[in-house]
Amino acid sequence: RPSLMRSASQLLRRRRSYSSASGQPERKVAILGAAGGIGQPLSLLMKLNPLVSSLSLYDIAGTPGVAADVSHINSPALVKGFVGEDQLGEALEGSDIVIIPAGVPRKPGMTRDDLFNINAGIVKNLCTAIAKYCPNALVNMISNPVNSTVPIAAEIFKKAGTYDEKRLFGVTTLDVVRAKTFYAGKANVHVTDVNVPVVGGHAGITILPLFSQATPSTNALSDEDIKALTKRTQDGGTEVVEAKAGKGSATLSMAYAGAVFANACLKGLNGVPDIVECTFVQSTVTELPFFASKVKLGKNGVEEVLGLGELSDFEKEGLENLKGELKASIEKGIKFANEN
Ligand code: NAD
Ligand code: LMR
Repeated sequence: RPSLMRSASQLLRRRRSYSSASGQPERKVAILGAAGGIGQPLSLLMKLNPLVSSLSLYDIAGTPGVAADVSHINSPALVKGFVGEDQLGEALEGSDIVIIPAGVPRKPGMTRDDLFNINAGIVKNLCTAIAKYCPNALVNMISNPVNSTVPIAAEIFKKAGTYDEKRLFGVTTLDVVRAKTFYAGKANVHVTDVNVPVVGGHAGITILPLFSQATPSTNALSDEDIKALTKRTQDGGTEVVEAKAGKGSATLSMAYAGAVFANACLKGLNGVPDIVECTFVQSTVTELPFFASKVKLGKNGVEEVLGLGELSDFEKEGLENLKGELKASIEKGIKFANEN
């Protein structure tokens, strides 16, 4: 028996030293809405991320199965599934990053704002729990309408006394992913070399890709090409909603984009320098209180909100045109959080 106990403790010691062998800090990531169309592939991608040591998969149904499935993958992250509100606290406790793809997606003919009535309440409840159980976590908000759900989250955190503008992010990475793909196709450059900032918000004309700043730069695109690329980026979500014909919106490309953004947040937390992503944050870049732009990520989340750089006349016009809609969506979120 003593030798049995010895070998068990040796095993534990070996496991501990193995888990710290990467030299990375232990990081817990929670996904809320993990059994959904985005949640499942996002859970898979986060399980594959070597910076994640603990992965908490929460949903109102279905997470035991998703967690059991993903947990069999032979990567280091320890996976646990949590189901139902009773288990939300445990799912969140100790999280460094909480990713929220919970809520209903669009069907053809709907705008993202049409999701407000259902998703605002979901986001409000989840953020109330975040304020209670992991107030220091970075929150990556995917649930639509992002232009309103991020302000809702901010108000909920303010009410709870936990708001830190450096830790709240609307995930707009899919707009960047699309702009890069569409630009590469049109400019005939290698897609993995492409960078395009996308600023503003995450709905229709509030999505403003800055193709004048795209790299590698090209003279091959006419003003008409840039207009068409801009429109396609703005309508990218609708393109997928229509192609899926009632079966939801982007899930796979969104899971990829969500994993890219969460990975950038993890790197920032771990002190990797010069991590920059476009994201919708509290901002003074324009007169609007929230705005997506390039943001430098660091050990506390937002390290610096970067400016817009030089805009073309077409982009300047786009910027002025988006402000009314974005302002209204932000105000709608703030009002909801304070009245409900
Ligand atoms: P989905 O219906 O497939 O999945 C949503 C999941 O949320 C479901 O599993 C559901 O059970 C869960 N859920 C509902 N209420 C919940 C609650 N209170 N707590 C925890 N989980 C809850 O939808 P989807 O396709 O995964 O899309 C999810 C959201 O992401 C939608 O609002 C969609 O519009 C949005 N979205 C945003 C982007 C973006 O770029 N930010 C891109 C694509 C989709
Ligand atoms: C997207 O851009 O794909 C998402 O916001 C989902 C949608 O409704 O378009």
